[in-house]
Amino acid sequence: MSFGGYFERFRRRWQNPEVILERVGLKANLTFIDVGCGNGFFAIPAARMVGESGKVYGLDISSNAINQLREIAKRKGLSNLELKVGKAEETMLCRGCADIVFFANDLHDFENPSKVVANARKMIKTIGRLVDLDWKKNGMAFIGPPMRIRLSEEEASHLIEAAGFKVETVEEAGPYHYLIIAKPKD
Ligand SMILES: C[S@@+](CC[C@H](N)C(=O)[O-])C[C@H]1O[C@@H](n2cnc3c(N)ncnc32)[C@H](O)[C@@H]1O
Repeated sequence: MSFGGYFERFRRRWQNPEVILERVGLKANLTFIDVGCGNGFFAIPAARMVGESGKVYGLDISSNAINQLREIAKRKGLSNLELKVGKAEETMLCRGCADIVFFANDLHDFENPSKVVANARKMIKTIGRLVDLDWKKNGMAFIGPPMRIRLSEEEASHLIEAAGFKVETVEEAGPYHYLIIAKPKD
């Protein structure tokens, strides 16, 4: 996928990253962790929004995706991203540093999503939030992953709560997605 290319323009019609990031409370100075960041559809706008005194961590199993993201960040003059190639099941980026740990379109993709969310629990501040944006399991199937591998809102909420979070809100985010926001349990 080329950044700024046809697919990004098409995607922005039904998934606007700036609108979603603002909706989940992203703002200047915050620390944002994008797990399974791909080539930065969310990480690049997030880096702009947190500004130079904030920080964006991006993690992905694909070195291609991380290399592309590194290039894009350089081209756009963004120096507040820390990017890592690794498996989310096995990678901790920090302990208790994140204001937001963000999953976009990928919780259903991980080999062991429970382990990934347990790692998120360790990386998040006690006042932080976990955000899970993912494909609805019902509705249209002409774009997105096959229905059989998607997680319903209930399945995702259950998985998140089992890892030590309390789900605060489950809402729609455009025609194809839901948005779950959860906070760490005491
Ligand atoms: C559907 S893409 C979503 C990318 C990005 N979040 C977005 O919304 O544009 C899923 C991403 O998760 C990554 N991924 C899959 N399994 C992973 C794992 N176990 N650990 C880290 N990243 C993984 C893939 O390489 C891919 O970039």
